Amino acid sequence: MQLTGMILAAGKGTRMKSDVPKGLHLVCGLPMVEHVIRALQGAGAKKSVLVIGHGADQMRDTFHAHPVEFALQAEQLGTGHAAMMAASLFKGYEGAVIVAPGDTPLLTADALTKLAEAHERAHALVTVASFIAADPHGYGRVVRDAKGHPHRIVEHKDASPEELKISEVNSSVYCFDAAALFKILPTLKNNNAQGEYYLTDVLRVVSESGGRTEAVVLPEELFMGVNDRWQLAEASTALKARILKHHAINGVTLIDPSTTWIGPEVTVGTDTVIEPNTVIEGRTQIGARCHLGPNSRIGDSKIGEGVTVRMSHVDHAILGDGSRIGPFANLRPGAVLGNGVKLGNFVEVKNSTLQDGVSAGHLSYLGDAEIGAGTNIGAGTITCNYDGYTKHQTRIGEDAFIGSNSTLVAPITIGDGAYVAAGSTITEDVSSDALALGRARQTEKEAWATRWREKNEPISSPTAN
Ligand code: UD1
Ligand code: CA
Repeated sequence: MQLTGMILAAGKGTRMKSDVPKGLHLVCGLPMVEHVIRALQGAGAKKSVLVIGHGADQMRDTFHAHPVEFALQAEQLGTGHAAMMAASLFKGYEGAVIVAPGDTPLLTADALTKLAEAHERAHALVTVASFIAADPHGYGRVVRDAKGHPHRIVEHKDASPEELKISEVNSSVYCFDAAALFKILPTLKNNNAQGEYYLTDVLRVVSESGGRTEAVVLPEELFMGVNDRWQLAEASTALKARILKHHAINGVTLIDPSTTWIGPEVTVGTDTVIEPNTVIEGRTQIGARCHLGPNSRIGDSKIGEGVTVRMSHVDHAILGDGSRIGPFANLRPGAVLGNGVKLGNFVEVKNSTLQDGVSAGHLSYLGDAEIGAGTNIGAGTITCNYDGYTKHQTRIGEDAFIGSNSTLVAPITIGDGAYVAAGSTITEDVSSDALALGRARQTEKEAWATRWREKNEPISSPTAN
């Protein structure tokens, strides 16, 4: 069955009290609408139509590179009207379309697949995903006919006292036969309590004209909607729990799930241990047997196997197997570490490649540098990469030894096996295996302190003052 998605996200989301359109608020690091796009993709929809209205430009900017096409609903006249706005994009299309709201970030590909399968099995023209609501207040109720097929959906505001007793409600997620949907939509009327064009009325029209309708009852938590910032936080917490459970079941140890956040695109290898207060975001990949945290943030990075990251920040970085980072290291974009690299406290690395076994134990800034395997970077080493206008490169060979408190003024090259004396300011290239000293020579004045003390002999005894 050919499948296309449609996401209704034109509404204002007034209760979010935000300048940002509702669909762009983040849940576990991804815009709400992106979760819906991903679920649709996962269910086999090659593309989705995104119906936008409020904040349309921001929505376009955010999703232009996704598998979506945009349909503009300039005025929000109801869900039926919103779907209608996509009609021209479905000309000649003869498959099914799954419609979902843009504010249900907990939807899963699995649930949408079940919906599409039920739709196909029943040869239905419309299949609604329903749930048994703990509190049905505010939802459209699913009214079934004598055969048990859904006959119509009645909005809370239009429902009779009898209908209000129904606890099976419309999730606002449906699978339609596209041809039937776009044939019926233009016939809808808005003579209801809210004066809106209801998408739900399509089901009634199908049923009344003898077409097949179906409903699949799914768990309520899949349809948790976000209307305000508290529901946004609740949705994040719920999705986070789902993600963490997935990793735990796959062999990752989570010491404290309540303070651990892992984004939906992160992968984690088995026997990795994640300590409290650790946040792993973006497209991060983590190998097996790592030990991460406590108090660490890792974003959009690739971490090898057996890596330790303690109390550190890692952003757009690559860490080789067995590297040990922190506490209090700061790996900024473009930090690329080979295997067995060791970075200790207050070491900052940016746009630099550190080959296997490089060690920088304490208090360093390594920016725009290439450092060969086995080189030791002493405490307090600083690459002076910026002259106020341009960034310059520092190149250090293999097995070099940079003494503590060295200042390497880039552009500069230090050869393999070279030594830089502690406290040096290095402004010229250093040959392989040489020793470079760039500091004032130490002098000694013999017995100077003795003479100093004699010269300063107190005139009167201190107690006399
Ligand atoms: C809708 C359903 C209701 C269901 C409930 C589940 C209708 C008539 N009712 O009601 O049966 O129980 O969802 O939450 O469909 N939107 C637009 N353009 C519009 C109106 C809405 O794009 O003109 C979008 C909104 O941005 C939102 C989605 O459609 O993402 C749902 O709209 P909303 O106003 O929340 O519908 P409900 O009244 O909750
Ligand atoms: Ca709603």
